[in-house]
Amino acid sequence: MSATMTASSILQHAARHAEKFLDGLDEMPVGTRASLADLRARFAGDGLRQRGMDPHEVVDALVAASTGGLVGSTGGRFFGWVIGGALPSTLAADWLTSVWDQNAALHATAPAAAVAEEVAGAWLADLLGIPASASVAFVTGCEMAHFTCFLAARHALLSRRGWDVERDGLSGSPRIRVLAGPERHGSTDRALRFAGIGTGAVERLTGTARGLLRADALEAALAQNPEAPAIVLLQAGDINTGAFDHFDELIPVAHRYGAWVHIDGAFGLWASASRQYEHLMRGAGWADSWATDGHKWLNVPYDSGYAFIAHPEHHRAAMTYQASYLTHATEARDEMDWNPEWSRRARGFATWAALRELGREGVEDLVNRCCGMATALVAGLGALDGAEVLCTPTINQGLVRFRSTRADASERDHDALTDQVMAEVLRSGEAFFTGTTWRGCRAVRVSVSSWRTTEHDVTRSVAAVAKALAVLRA
Ligand SMILES: Cc1ncc(COP(=O)(O)O)c(C=O)c1O
Repeated sequence: MSATMTASSILQHAARHAEKFLDGLDEMPVGTRASLADLRARFAGDGLRQRGMDPHEVVDALVAASTGGLVGSTGGRFFGWVIGGALPSTLAADWLTSVWDQNAALHATAPAAAVAEEVAGAWLADLLGIPASASVAFVTGCEMAHFTCFLAARHALLSRRGWDVERDGLSGSPRIRVLAGPERHGSTDRALRFAGIGTGAVERLTGTARGLLRADALEAALAQNPEAPAIVLLQAGDINTGAFDHFDELIPVAHRYGAWVHIDGAFGLWASASRQYEHLMRGAGWADSWATDGHKWLNVPYDSGYAFIAHPEHHRAAMTYQASYLTHATEARDEMDWNPEWSRRARGFATWAALRELGREGVEDLVNRCCGMATALVAGLGALDGAEVLCTPTINQGLVRFRSTRADASERDHDALTDQVMAEVLRSGEAFFTGTTWRGCRAVRVSVSSWRTTEHDVTRSVAAVAKALAVLRA
């Protein structure tokens, strides 16, 4: 068989497996069935062979090894963590991205990829309420978006103080303070570690009853040391409650002291795309940097995150690199000037496809629909015997716990029951929830971010939880 025939028939072969998987999504258990030992044994097989295999057999072997070890997170009844699905055009675009196998480091290595990112980046900024003058990087996820933004912030804050961080590093530089409210996602901490700023730089300030940063606490902290370089970390969508900081109050305070404001909006930034929820983002456009994901709420396949920076000159200064063996563009966009990677996947194609498939209306509808489903799901679970709603969704996240009906039950018994309910639902294969500890209580974190979730999925999932409760209380 010629190389072209092999390539074409292998894709058809893989497509048949893919169709079977997608057609079966609704009926397959949402959780996995294969044990760790099974998966290890299947993938290891008879070891690394001396001679290779036919590509068709390889694909069959991959599918066989993975069966029962794939989480149904792309289906409609997956409510764990924050994991979006994949829109049809994005799946196809992602496949084509692999077929084309472009190295999206430079315009010269992948011109179509560079322009797709340029255009999709501008569309994203428009949808997300970010100034059109901001620069963008298409990265692997929100954590790397934080990292990219922190490198730009580091450059801006230290160059203003006469320190060349790209040349001299952080050793001996003015110490950067990081001011945050009582809650933040762990990915900001890891990004601070990677950026050399360190988690020890974080000052956890007083928050409101809802865990939002208070403007007076921020002002007091900045006034204590007004000369120090500072990053203020704000949240658009807390991981547990979906709460939003009050950007219109906080950002002017931060800017009065010359601080850099970064917003973690891994999923919450998408509220800007909905007329129903955009009020939550009031003032967010004044920030210095924003991090969000395509692989969560935009329903682009992994890996897809976006960093936006209000000051392209600082962004570029933190990232750019030139070498005589490379071909640098003069008019076009070289991704290497904006990204922390050198060789990289042309991940902009899938985002461009998502925005083409949905349009403005489709993105708004996706956001509204997920929020509506999250509200319905939390209400449905909250109506079950012994349920307690800890947090009604502001957007697409909510918290529910289950109380033991035993007369002498303690808080720990309620916690245990809540975890057992999630485990029992997972065992049933009907739905997938993950938990959290919020203000000392175990809770089910309800998170809806897939285009596939329907009202029927919500009803079916509530029924699965009701059944799990009945089994556990029997
Ligand atoms: C609020 C928030 N920020 C950041 C992240 C990290 O995103 P990623 O996994 O895309 O790096 C997450 C992931 O769940 C998140 O929920």
